[in-house]
Amino acid sequence: MTTMSAIEERLEAPTARGLAQAVSRGVREGALSPGAKLPPIRTLATQLGLSPTTVSAGWALLARSGTIHTDGRRGTRVTGPPESGPGRYRRALERQLDFALDLSTGTPDPALLPNLATALGQLTTAGILGSYLDDPVLPELLEVLKDQWPYPPEKLMVVDGAMDGLDLVSRSLLRFGDRVVVEHPGFPPLLDLLESIGVVVVGVPLDRAGLRPEPLAAALRIPSAALFLQPRAQNPTGASMTKERASALAPILARAAGTIVVEDDSAGAVAASAPISLGQWIPDQVIHIRSFSKSHGPDLRLAAMSGPSQLLGEIAHRRQLGQGWSSRLLQRVLLSLLTDPVAVAAVDHARDEYTRRRAALVSALTSLEVEVTDGDGLNLWVPVHDESAAIVRLATRGVGVTPGAPFDILAGGVDHIRVTVGLVADGHEALALVLAAAANTTSWASGAR
Ligand SMILES: Cc1ncc(COP(=O)(O)O)c(C=O)c1O
Repeated sequence: MTTMSAIEERLEAPTARGLAQAVSRGVREGALSPGAKLPPIRTLATQLGLSPTTVSAGWALLARSGTIHTDGRRGTRVTGPPESGPGRYRRALERQLDFALDLSTGTPDPALLPNLATALGQLTTAGILGSYLDDPVLPELLEVLKDQWPYPPEKLMVVDGAMDGLDLVSRSLLRFGDRVVVEHPGFPPLLDLLESIGVVVVGVPLDRAGLRPEPLAAALRIPSAALFLQPRAQNPTGASMTKERASALAPILARAAGTIVVEDDSAGAVAASAPISLGQWIPDQVIHIRSFSKSHGPDLRLAAMSGPSQLLGEIAHRRQLGQGWSSRLLQRVLLSLLTDPVAVAAVDHARDEYTRRRAALVSALTSLEVEVTDGDGLNLWVPVHDESAAIVRLATRGVGVTPGAPFDILAGGVDHIRVTVGLVADGHEALALVLAAAANTTSWASGAR
């Protein structure tokens, strides 16, 4: 039976939901097997007497449920068994061994997070809500955030971490088949998220100053729904966008007025470079997200997100149907941490300490002729001759790092490993020796020795 007839036979209603149900049933009943290629939207629309918009909306429902996925020009297929799920994220963080020194996590050093005792001591009740429709952001927190924001935001909301912000933006504003530009190399969970929605991802390379203007201009010649970038301490490279670069990118983006720019400032207050946002130039196109995970603790699960009222309004409205708001109890903890001089000093110290740790490892690696560039944030992007060999070699020395491949967008092979140097308080020279040996390992055979 052809894919087309398997769907046609099961189509009970000529709607997006009806189509999604028909395909789901086909998969459940074995008529559509994992990996089966689905017909192009127009072909299916003509054959089934549906509009292309209806088919596209049906595809979006199926992509969200993980039933189908789209793979650029190779088309849309029925999703295979679970290993094709959020693959990059899993590959990036998979731990095969209990490492003596695990530098694969990308997480902050718990010893450098501010102490919560004062903030928690100030909580007296678990928040008093007038109604579930109360202002979702504590007004006092809003004022503090506005003061620290890199541009005057039209609207600001609080979300449950940067990933929640990225998820809300993507699911509210992107549609199946949209074209979306991302940085190369880029953040694996974002790529998994975009893949789950079924957008077509296009990579644009970075250099030390941020996204490169010419390739970005070339990518945006085709209308694109969104550009995702990390303005500071880019994960994995550590690059931070300079003011000059931002002012070169802004007119390119202004010409692509239909493209929403989503900025993920995940290092937040532990980034050594000053806050920066394209919102200073093109506020009507920018959604800027700042996470507090690295600076104040990943388990606070909080980030702030700014953007034009209309876009954030849509997102907040959609969120009202689910979670509604981010815990005001946690917002009060964050407010206290952002205003208590002792907590502020702790975050300042953490930022300086991360800079010291990075610089110490960069200097030790440079003296061993590993060409590594100092960046910003918790990670170092270390070039290696052979990624797999380097990882195996490091594992035999008890050191865990993240392979570069899951960050690779342009599929040219990145030959790097990501090292969370932020976790390394001392012993940088000894670590550099181990990393340099791994970087120079050229084959599995020599790696195993
Ligand atoms: C680039 C990037 N975005 C988002 C996140 C997740 O941030 P959050 O903990 O605020 O969800 C991380 C965490 O490492 C990150 O590196």
